[in-house]
This record gives sequence, C-alpha cells and structure tokens, in this order.
Amino acid sequence: MKSIGILGAGQIGSAFAQLLARHQIPAVIANSRGPASLAELVKALGPGIRAGTREEAAAQDIVLVAVNWSKLPTALAGLPDWQGRIVIDANNPIEAPLFQPLELGGRLSSEIVAELVPGARVVKAFNHLKVALMTSDPHAEGGRRVLFYSGDDAPARAEVGDLIDQLGFFGIDLGTPAVGGQLAQFPGGPLLALNLAKFG
Ligand SMILES: NC(=O)c1ccc[n+]([C@@H]2O[C@H](COP(=O)([O-])OP(=O)(O)OC[C@H]3O[C@@H](n4cnc5c(N)ncnc54)[C@H](OP(=O)(O)O)[C@@H]3O)[C@@H](O)[C@H]2O)c1
Repeated sequence: MKSIGILGAGQIGSAFAQLLARHQIPAVIANSRGPASLAELVKALGPGIRAGTREEAAAQDIVLVAVNWSKLPTALAGLPDWQGRIVIDANNPIEAPLFQPLELGGRLSSEIVAELVPGARVVKAFNHLKVALMTSDPHAEGGRRVLFYSGDDAPARAEVGDLIDQLGFFGIDLGTPAVGGQLAQFPGGPLLALNLAKFG
C-alpha cells in the first residue's frame, strides 16, 4: 500500500486525517510547529495517524497539501526532490480573514502549486467541499457523496481516485487542469461547494 503524508494539520489536513483514520489507512501529519504541537490531534485521531516533521510528511508516496495559500511557498520550500510522487493539492487561493479571491494573473491555482513541488505529479482534490461535508458520512444523503479530481498525469489521477473510493466517496475524474481545474477552481468554478451524490 502507498504511504500517505499530510502537510498542514488545520481544518482540511485534519479532516483528511480523520477520513483516513476511519478507514484504518495510516498517515503521517505535519504542521509548521513540529510534531509535539500535534500530540492532542493525533491522540484524538487514533493509532494509525502519527505526527511527523514537514520533511517526513513530504517524503511519503502520496502527500496531501492543505496550507494557507500565502504560506504555501514556505511550507513547500527546501524539500527533497519529489521524484514523481503524488501531491494532492487541496488548496484554494483565498484566505481568512477577508476571504477575497487572490489575483493569480489568469493562471490556475494548481499550476502555481505545481511550480512549488517540482517533479511531483499533482492532482487537485479535496478542495471543493466545505470541511463539514468532507468529514460527515459520505452516504448521508443516500448514494455516495461526489468528490472531483483533476491533474495532468492520468495514472496519478487513477491512484487518487482509488483513494477517494476507499474513503467512501464517489470520485469523478475531471481530466486535465485545463478542463477539470477550471471547473473546480476558486472562485467561479461551477462545481465548487456543490454537495452532489451518486445514486445507483
Ligand atoms: N477550510 C475549508 O473549508 C477549506 C475547504 C477547501 C479547501 N481549503 C483550502 O485548504 C487549505 C488549508 O485550509 P485550512 O482551512 O485547513 O487552513 P488552516 O485550518 O488555517 O490550517 C492551515 C495549516 O497549514 C499549516 N502550515 C502553515 N504554514 C506551514 C508551514 N510553513 N509548514 C507546514 N505547515 C504549515 C498550519 O500549521 P500551523 O498551525 O503550525 O501554522 C496549519 O496546520 C487552504 O489553501 C484552503 O483554501 C479549505
């Protein structure tokens, strides 16, 4: 089984960790303040999720990155080569307290994230639902709650799709960033924040 790292242990990082823990999938989670600061969180999550350093989390086969947009360059700086490992980009270019969309000069947010993780295969996922919908039962409305994902590398998309499936959601592959990234891009992507379920 592929190993999983989580960079960012706030709302989205810990929600993803909670989903993994629920399905007995181990992972290492990191924030900016070091493993000791995550002791309470990992205790609450259970034995499969351990706190690690930023470098440890980033060394896993699949690494979900969920960090405040303006802190991404620091969070991803100075890490060893990604060597084709998968980065799940859960980030959106918006930040508290203003929640104003940031100016990206017409670029996709996933292109900007991809530049920060050279050599990684980036799949955008876990970015389009509010955190409460990520952690609540994906079968709550009947069917399976839908999660969208997109990225340039088809095998990487398939791996993330498998993980989404294991977590109980129905994954929909939106294809390349040029197509799928636009659909789930913040702001304006038509699929953002929709709580959709697949029946049958
Ligand atoms: N919240 C949502 O509903 C939601 C939904 C979809 C997507 N998103 C996106 O997901 C991303 C994270 O959002 P969030 O709500 O989870 O934010 P958050 O609760 O503020 O958590 C951010 C995390 O990033 C970590 N971090 C910051 N700088 C770091 C560094 N240099 N190295 C390692 N870790 C660092 C923080 O660690 P420290 O606490 O130690 O600083 C914290 O654990 C954002 O891009 C956001 O747009 C959020």
